[in-house]
Amino acid sequence: MAITTCVFDAYGTLFDVASAAREAASRPENSEIAENWAKLSGDWRQKQLQYSWLRAVMGAHTDFWQVTQDGLDWAMEANGLRDARLRKDLLDLYWSLAAYEEVPAMLAALKTAGLNTAILSNGSLDMLDGAVVSAGLTDRLDAILSVDTVGVFKPDSRVYDLVGAHFGCEVEEVLFVSSNGWDAAAAAGYGFATAWVNRADEPVDRLPWTPRHQLRDLTGIPEIAGV
Ligand code: LAC
Repeated sequence: MAITTCVFDAYGTLFDVASAAREAASRPENSEIAENWAKLSGDWRQKQLQYSWLRAVMGAHTDFWQVTQDGLDWAMEANGLRDARLRKDLLDLYWSLAAYEEVPAMLAALKTAGLNTAILSNGSLDMLDGAVVSAGLTDRLDAILSVDTVGVFKPDSRVYDLVGAHFGCEVEEVLFVSSNGWDAAAAAGYGFATAWVNRADEPVDRLPWTPRHQLRDLTGIPEIAGV
């Protein structure tokens, strides 16, 4: 079945989550993370994701902004950082993360070809709106679908249900794109065509399903979508 709808994970896929710590570290007042910002950023991301999965399993949902703050608090303590001003800088920057450079042209190609485009993210709607506006992508996305609507995080299948509910399309018409191997795997199990954006050349996740396509960045998405 032809792809009619391209759906993207947000954090790590369209938006570079490392850009917050990278930008903060470039400021003279944050010299304490000049050397180890990448380690801090990686710890922050891992804890943010772990807390989202654990809360889904525990039935203890909260919004993504809370797990983003909780993950940062853990990461700062693990890296011996206590500065409340640094914490605020990092969190403020999360609302205006850089989009990967190929994103605007890639989305424009999909739109020009008449495909539906959307974000499907664990992010809360206000965080996603902030990132989309800041990156200038508003006109290139038909929908921003957030787990806020269902009150559980990916990879719970109720989140993937939001795509069909919004666009009225069949699962086979959807190309789901994520840089998170676990997200792409779960979406493949759900029945979407899937592309895993593997920028770091990581091994494939050992999960029951495997993404159909694997790319190093997003430039090949229109071709995979049949554009
Ligand atoms: C998201 C996270 C998982 O945007 O990257 O849903």
